[in-house]
Amino acid sequence: MSTKTAFVTGANKGIGFETAKALLKYGFRVLIGARDESRGTAAVEALAEFGDVQLQLIDMADLDSIRAAVSNVKENYADLTLLINNAGISGAFDKTAWDFEAQELIDTYMVDFIGPFGLTKGLLPLLNDNKGKVVNITIPTEAHEFFHPFAYQAAKAPLNVMIDNFGLEVAQKNMPVQIMGIMPGAVSTDLNDHAQGDFVKTPTEAAEQIVAIATDAKNYNGKIVNVDNPEDILSRMD
Ligand SMILES: NC(=O)c1ccc[n+]([C@@H]2O[C@H](COP(=O)([O-])OP(=O)(O)OC[C@H]3O[C@@H](n4cnc5c(N)ncnc54)[C@H](OP(=O)(O)O)[C@@H]3O)[C@@H](O)[C@H]2O)c1
Repeated sequence: MSTKTAFVTGANKGIGFETAKALLKYGFRVLIGARDESRGTAAVEALAEFGDVQLQLIDMADLDSIRAAVSNVKENYADLTLLINNAGISGAFDKTAWDFEAQELIDTYMVDFIGPFGLTKGLLPLLNDNKGKVVNITIPTEAHEFFHPFAYQAAKAPLNVMIDNFGLEVAQKNMPVQIMGIMPGAVSTDLNDHAQGDFVKTPTEAAEQIVAIATDAKNYNGKIVNVDNPEDILSRMD
């Protein structure tokens, strides 16, 4: 795909930071989405040696902040071709489902679904004009014996529905923009208290896999790709 501007949310650390670095190395100009100016600036400074990197303040839990970011991107980054909805929170990993408070579910839902929805909706016309792509970093949402964090799965499930639904409508309307998901598998980050294990990858490894798929010439519109098994694509669109 053309290497113009990419916008990565939650890019001040973890998978987002490494994804931004990999995109810079690939040749993109990269907008670092961060909610905190000092953490965002530190990331921009750390990445400056890899290419053209700039800060975009954005709080994914705040619709006004999202609207302001959309306006700024439309005005100053008209060559946006790639949006990576990476910012995310998990809620507690160790609580039983009924021990969650409703507010924790609302907080997780805002960052993991409503924020990405608002940002995608706002930037879709520009990305469509530029034949661009929206990549959502996501997870499997079926409760599994060893992985069933309720707030996290309850918040990413509608994100997966968004990919399916937007993907279908984009295809029905023959729009050139693509919307897809990528499941990076288990990655050792702050989100999971730096989980360890044979199956757990580093953020750098995950980012390389994400960027390889995000820049792949194949059309993944409406699909969710599991990086650990690229043949395992969730989609009803085949
Ligand atoms: N780690 C894994 O095993 C794994 C597996 C599958 C999918 N994922 C997904 O990968 C994405 C990145 O996760 P990670 O593991 O890299 O976690 P992380 O290290 O905790 O990074 C999360 C990023 O999201 C940002 N963020 C949180 N709330 C935000 C808000 N309200 N507005 C804007 N940014 C916000 C954080 O910023 P602050 O520094 O300001 O908090 C940080 O930059 C998430 O969507 C996660 O669900 C992770």
